[in-house]
Amino acid sequence: MGVNTNINLNQQEPAGGQSLSVIWIVVAGLGMIFGGILIATITPSIFPQQASAEAVQVDNLFRFMLAVGGAIFLLVVGVLVFVIVRFRARPGDLADGPPIHGNTTLEMVWTIIPAIIVLVLTVYSYQVWVSIRTLQPIHNSVAAVGQRFAWAFNYVITPEDLPASVTLDQLEEPIRAAVTSEAGMNFSSAQLHTWMGQQMQVSLRTEDVNHAFWIPAMRIKQDLLAGRETSISFTPIEAGTYRIICAELCGSGHGNMAGTVGFNDDLQGAWLIVHPDEVTYLREFYEPEAAKVLFPPEDPALRGRQILVGAAYPCATCHVLDDLGWVGNIGPNLNNIGVRAATRVSGLTADQYLRNSIRHPGDYLVPGYSNLMPQFNAVAGEANYMPDTDLDAIVAYLLTQQQ
Ligand code: CUA
Repeated sequence: MGVNTNINLNQQEPAGGQSLSVIWIVVAGLGMIFGGILIATITPSIFPQQASAEAVQVDNLFRFMLAVGGAIFLLVVGVLVFVIVRFRARPGDLADGPPIHGNTTLEMVWTIIPAIIVLVLTVYSYQVWVSIRTLQPIHNSVAAVGQRFAWAFNYVITPEDLPASVTLDQLEEPIRAAVTSEAGMNFSSAQLHTWMGQQMQVSLRTEDVNHAFWIPAMRIKQDLLAGRETSISFTPIEAGTYRIICAELCGSGHGNMAGTVGFNDDLQGAWLIVHPDEVTYLREFYEPEAAKVLFPPEDPALRGRQILVGAAYPCATCHVLDDLGWVGNIGPNLNNIGVRAATRVSGLTADQYLRNSIRHPGDYLVPGYSNLMPQFNAVAGEANYMPDTDLDAIVAYLLTQQQ
């Protein structure tokens, strides 16, 4: 029976070994801290532009977490490498390790330090959360509607919001009635407009399934929940044009619920446009758009075109229509629809076919396309409401598409 007597558990440290290992621990600790800070400094350079006050707070919190996480990563990997090298099995060494039962001090340390870190992160992130969710006394509000597969942003016109050159007497009924009503008059746009330095609150509603409203440059993201209104706010600190993206898989056109860039750099789909100041916002966006709905064209076809351009209905992301610059790829092509509609279904005129296709899209599906289009109904207050006046104008416009 051979008892291995070669193992010496009381390996004698060389003289001065105690202070040498203290120096090593200090060096390793500093390396860990500076390594963590380095990781936190370098990594965020791949982030999108930091264009809101909230983005600064969110990024600082992220950097802090990255520094802590980076330091812990270096500690774990450093100890692992050290242990592998220092305690590797030497040739001929077949012994077990020393029988260590436990170390209360060590266990206290690795419980208390993480508990403190988690506590600090909790307090810090809660404070950031409260700060970015707080509404300032003065802020803009816009109602956003998410729908398969487009965004629409609704702006309100009340008597106080009328462009300076317009008076209430100039408006015809029923537009004057809408402007003076309690809710005001609405117009919609596929783009979200605001100006720099002003907090913007976006209330979010979905017409169908869940979506998520995400503007990476503003570092905000909020789900739209079926049957519930949610909201999110942000304060842009840089003028510019920023992508809006749907971040919740909502169907086959999910990828189309985002701002894209078409030919000649023209913007398609949902974008946030931050004007330098309120005056520019009013001059370049609000007043011209308000004038269009306050004084609609007499010709129903022109009115229909204006309604579709205003993105009140989410047609653009699913259909191709050269006249309006639509490049959607989910529904049938609408170029030349005024001609084709006349022969699509025997017994239906072009006008009847188009009306039916909007009120009951599933009735006569174009071969190769599935029944994805919302059914636009005539009942006010229900989902996908399209008043008869809008339907008349849109059909009149579509009938003019003859090439
Ligand atoms: Cu809406 Cu994805």
